[in-house]
Amino acid sequence: MHEPSHNSSAGAAKPWAGRFNAPTDAFVEAFTASVDFDRRLYRYDIQGSIAHATMLARQGILGQAECDQIVTGLEAVRARIDAGAFTWSIPLEDVHMNVETALTEAIGDAGKRLHTGRSRNDQVATDVRLWLRDEIDLIRIAIARLQAALLTLAEREADTVMPGFTHLQVAQPITFGHHMMAWFEMLERDRARLADCRGRVNVMPLGAAALAGTTYPIDRHLTARLLGFDHPAENSLDAVSDRDFAIEFTAAAAILMMHLSRFSEELILWASAQFAFVDLSDSFCTGSSIMPQKKNPDVPELVRGKSGRIFGHLMGLLTLMKGQPLAYNKDNQEDKEPLFDTVDNLKGCLKVYAEMMGQVTCRRERMRTAAAQGFSTATDLADYLVRKGIPFRDAHEIVGKAVALGVREGRDLAELTIDELRGFSERIEPDVYAVLTLEGSVAARDHLGGTAPAQVRAAIGRARLRLAEG
Ligand code: ARG
Repeated sequence: MHEPSHNSSAGAAKPWAGRFNAPTDAFVEAFTASVDFDRRLYRYDIQGSIAHATMLARQGILGQAECDQIVTGLEAVRARIDAGAFTWSIPLEDVHMNVETALTEAIGDAGKRLHTGRSRNDQVATDVRLWLRDEIDLIRIAIARLQAALLTLAEREADTVMPGFTHLQVAQPITFGHHMMAWFEMLERDRARLADCRGRVNVMPLGAAALAGTTYPIDRHLTARLLGFDHPAENSLDAVSDRDFAIEFTAAAAILMMHLSRFSEELILWASAQFAFVDLSDSFCTGSSIMPQKKNPDVPELVRGKSGRIFGHLMGLLTLMKGQPLAYNKDNQEDKEPLFDTVDNLKGCLKVYAEMMGQVTCRRERMRTAAAQGFSTATDLADYLVRKGIPFRDAHEIVGKAVALGVREGRDLAELTIDELRGFSERIEPDVYAVLTLEGSVAARDHLGGTAPAQVRAAIGRARLRLAEG
């Protein structure tokens, strides 16, 4: 072992200090260290090391007794960290050297053999992939929980009529259940994107060593099996430098956050006094320190705001990798904080959203009144005229004139008399009022993907099956 005095911090012998004559500058040491954040990977670091040691022993590269000592030693280190009884050292730079040094302190020489045929470059890429694989599984479950809350709400409000909007102008009546099922579909794509991304996360870098592979007769398939990876990475240079999986994950997260920001915007509008379509539970809102009347939709606002940092992390990771030559570069250490922050915030947003959506109450009368205004059944009247033999373009023109009268007089279409309506077209008969009702309008859109309550209920049934498939 080299002289500890060669290092800036007494007692912290760096595993790589052999060729160095001068100690690391104290500020540089802190500046280059990652242990403050990558210590979060310790369970995966130890899991990877146990698999690596097991493979080395099976291949006769390491004695079985030494392997047993290493495994027991690593488990003891893990227990100490779990218990909060581990002191992390900045001079030891990162989680990998902290764990390895603690192991060697505990078991002696056998610990020094663990790093045979391995580098921190393939080690760190492995740790991050193992960690992210677990997080993706948890995030997919969290998405499914939110989807389940939406299904419950959609079922309860399958018949609730609200105005549907385009350009944020009243367009046609829809059901609240149908609207919730639109959100469900957006989340279903997010869940699928993450499942797809998981396949490219679950590839094993170990064996790539620093960049070129190793001279020992390793069995990468064995290590991959032990760690539950689908297969080892094909190319050692790519294995240590690839962070596509991190970018892909963050892109999927950014799209998911974009969806949540849209849901949030609608909830914020709907909870306002001007819309008053829904009530958010008091436990998801806060008051104002100056205005006693206020009940602010903080949770959706904060989720909408958090989309910004996740988009930023995606741009940050893309820029991190842009122009990097092969293979590993220290730049890559910068992948972790954006990833960690993305995962933490995404999980927080999904959790709070699932709970909040479970407590949303609908103000059905308000939604109905809003749907009854704004000539939302104008298209239904045009379709009625088409059924009576008038070409759609002419029907559109006729209804436009009826709407103009309604606008002038401040009355909706259903409030015009039959004589007034017949003034626009002789084909209009008293049965027209059935299509001008909100219920008639939504019930008529009775096909796959339409807003009719029967179709919404069928969609909910299919959605339940998709959720159950996992
Ligand atoms: N802390 C480093 C990282 O996160 C570990 C790999 C360091 N490898 C190296 N050759 N310095 O990327």
